[in-house]
Parts: sequence; structure tokens; C-alpha cells
Amino acid sequence: MARKKEFESLTIDSLEYQGNGVARHDGRVIFVEGVLPGEVVDVRVTRRKKGFAFATPTEFHARSPLRQDPFCEHFADCGGCTWQYLPYEEQVANKGAFVAEVMERIGGITEPLPLPILGCDRNTEYRNKLEFSFSPTGWITQSQVDAGVELPHRNALGFHVKGRFNRVVDVSRCFLQREPSNHVRNEARRIAAGLDLSFHDPQTHEGLLRSLTVRTSDDEVMVILCIYEDRPDIAARFLSLLMEAVPEITSAHYVINPTRNDDISPHEVIHVAGTRTITERCGHLRFAIHPKSFYQTNARQAERLYGVVREWIEPEPGDSLLDLYCGIGSIGLYLADLVKEVVGVEYVEAAVEHAILNATTNECGNARFFAGDVRDLIATAGREGAPLPRTELVVLDPPRAGIHPDVVTELIRLAPRQIIYVSCKPSTQARDLKLLSQRYEIRRMQPVDMFPHTFHIENVADLRRRDD
Ligand SMILES: C[S@@+](CC[C@H](N)C(=O)[O-])C[C@H]1O[C@@H](n2cnc3c(N)ncnc32)[C@H](O)[C@@H]1O
Repeated sequence: MARKKEFESLTIDSLEYQGNGVARHDGRVIFVEGVLPGEVVDVRVTRRKKGFAFATPTEFHARSPLRQDPFCEHFADCGGCTWQYLPYEEQVANKGAFVAEVMERIGGITEPLPLPILGCDRNTEYRNKLEFSFSPTGWITQSQVDAGVELPHRNALGFHVKGRFNRVVDVSRCFLQREPSNHVRNEARRIAAGLDLSFHDPQTHEGLLRSLTVRTSDDEVMVILCIYEDRPDIAARFLSLLMEAVPEITSAHYVINPTRNDDISPHEVIHVAGTRTITERCGHLRFAIHPKSFYQTNARQAERLYGVVREWIEPEPGDSLLDLYCGIGSIGLYLADLVKEVVGVEYVEAAVEHAILNATTNECGNARFFAGDVRDLIATAGREGAPLPRTELVVLDPPRAGIHPDVVTELIRLAPRQIIYVSCKPSTQARDLKLLSQRYEIRRMQPVDMFPHTFHIENVADLRRRDD
């Protein structure tokens, strides 16, 4: 196996939780992308690790009856929506099974079994934010090569090719965001050509246009153009033509980012026309979305996720709630009317500022937010003069890495009556739940699908302190 690069007629036994098919050869595991159980494939190894390897299929000898044709013309090249060849109902069934599997394998948790996963009502046009990249060396697709197409230029506006940061697929139709998202991007490309503007190359660091972000809410559309050089005149002209071509745009901004790094967060956003923010609704709440605001990208499914937390939380009179890793405060604010006080912690200061603003807009006078590391702030919680009070209710929504073991220790010290743990990575959640189960009973778990056609899964766990 050590040197072998190709394997023939491997049978795929199952799927692992990142969506790869699992095959075995001479007692070793080969993870194969883009395949389904029961399929028989020849593969080429792309990456090798001790005892296992990753591979890509080169030939199919047998296909699964479940396999369907991808609905997007860019599927073969684009890095998004990688699971389109499996019907959506099968995707969610597999995601539910993955949660049960990692809970048992990593957390040793066999009970309770996760509740049936909550799938999305809409599995296309579910995102409220997309960032399209400009590139002067767009990807030439296999079908263009096969057809011998002669391209007049290689300027592209779209998404990065799978695993290639410097290659961009020129997207003509994407199914991820509601219209006018496609119209905005296609008009932007036309306007750029009309103005003869150059597209930025991240390798040579030449070219003006870097990215175009489109944010949509129910009835508003925001665009944010990012350019490389200090040319406010061109940015304003470009955006004015774009607004003329797409009258649904309600808010237009640009950012000048002259650095080699794509991150726009350190740079000033310049408002050009329309409103400064757009509004997202989440149940009884309204959030003002600024060009740089973080907000859950699948807003409708976030509402269902928060709905699970709201249904499960069991406040008693006088209870306060700690919302740890609170982002812009959305979960805590969603629960604020049920408790005496909400105290949120988040280490991105801008997010905390937005959380405070959101509390004011939504008239949640009982919410406070602190900027800082959860690990530091929780260490003093409940002590005299400490910013965080001792509470009986805690909601955790950490990043993919999960929570630090010190945070587990402190939670066990504080011993709130109920912890609701929202996770975007069930494998790290399983690890953390195993530690928390020293003092907590896991009462129920609810997987929620936020990102159809991808392998991501959210899982909510409801924990009760055991008083034995
Ligand atoms: C999964 S997001 C949750 C956001 C929010 N609950 C929501 O639903 O929109 C995790 C958040 O934790 C923050 N974060 C990550 N590590 C942190 C830490 N050690 N201390 C405080 N906040 C942290 C991130 O900045 C991010 O906003």
C-alpha cells in the first residue's frame, strides 16, 4: 500500500461523517471522495497518511441507485455544494446517522439517540450572503477544453475551484442565494468589462477588482465591492451602474483593501448609496446587518435552531442565563423575554458592539455583553466583583474546535441546572459531552441541517445537572 497510487475495483462500504466513502484494502482504510455505499470504483490516491489514504475516483464500475445528476452546471469545478449527487432526503438521513455515530465513537454516548434531524424546507437559495471573487486567470473547465472553446480573455467572477485558492470558476448561475444574486454578479461582470477594469490576481497582486459580496434579507439587497487600489471614483461609478442595472439593490458600499490578505475586517467600509444596513428578522427579533456583521448564513434555519433552544430551556422564576460564545447576541436575545437577565460573552469586540446594539433595537433591557475569552471570564464567574454572575442556565455555541477543558472544569464548578450546547461540529461536541457527563445527564439531542448539499451538521444537546 505504501507506494501504490492507484487501486482498482474498490467497493465502498459506508460513508464517514465528512461525506467521504469508506473502502478497505489489505486491512487499510481508503477515504474516497464523491462516492456512495455500494459503488465499485477505481481510485487515484491524493493524500497518504499512516494507515489510511484519501483518494478520488477515476472510473465507476457500479453506481448506487441513489445517485442523482448534480443540478448545478458548475458542480464539477466549484468548491461549494459538494453533495449534490445524493438526494436531499438521503443527505439528511446520513447527517442524522453521523451524529449518532460520532456520539458513540468519540463520546461513548449511546443514549439518548439523536432526535430525527430537522432538514431545511428549502434546500436551494438558503444563504443570505455570498462572496464572489474576481480573477484574471479564470478556470478553464473540462467541457471547454473538450469543446476546444477559444476564450477571448480569462477574466472570471465566481467561486474558488475545489482546493485552489488562486483559481476562480466563472459562475453564471448559483443556486445558493435568492435572486437577484445571479443578476447582480452577471451585471457586475458586464459593467467591469464595459469600464475596462482589471481583475485582481492574488499571486502577482495586480488588478483592481477583488471581490463582490451580496447580502440578502427578505426584501433587501446589499452589495459590498472590494478593490485593491485607492480609486474611490471608480468604485462609486461601478456601484452606481450596478444599482441602475439591478434596481432591487437597496444598499451599496465599497472597501479598499491594498494588502495581500483578503480579510476586509480591518478596512473602512464606505457607504455609497441606499440604506447603511439591511434588516434580518428572526422570530420576534430584528437584526440590523452592517456590511461587516456576522449573521447566521441560513437565517430561516437559524430561527428553527434557536426555536429548539427556546423550547428546551426551562427557566424558573428569577433565573439568569449565560450565553457563552454569543457572537452578535442572537441566541441570548432570542431567550431574553424568558429570563431575568442575559449575560453574553464573545471575544470579537465588533460582534459585542453589535450585540449591544441589537439588544437596544429589540428593547431587551435585560441583556449585557462582555468582550473577552470565555476561558478567562468563566474562571471568575460567580465570585465577588466578577463580570459574570453564577447562573442556573447556560447556552454554549462555541466554534468548531469546541470548548477548552478548563471551560468544562469551570462549568462543573459553577454547576448550572441546565446547559444547552449548540455545536457546529458534533465530533468536538461529543468529546466535550463526555467530560461534562461527570456531572450532567444528556436528556436529548437535536441535529439540525443548516447547509444542504454540504457535510456540515449542527447539533443541539440538552444537559441537566445530576444531583446524585
Ligand atoms: C459558532 S459562533 C456562535 C455565534 C452566535 N451564538 C450565533 O448564533 O450567531 C462562535 C462564536 O464564538 C466566538 N469565540 C470563539 N472562541 C471564543 C473564545 N475563546 N471566547 C469568546 N468567544 C469566542 C467567535 O468569535 C464566534 O462569534
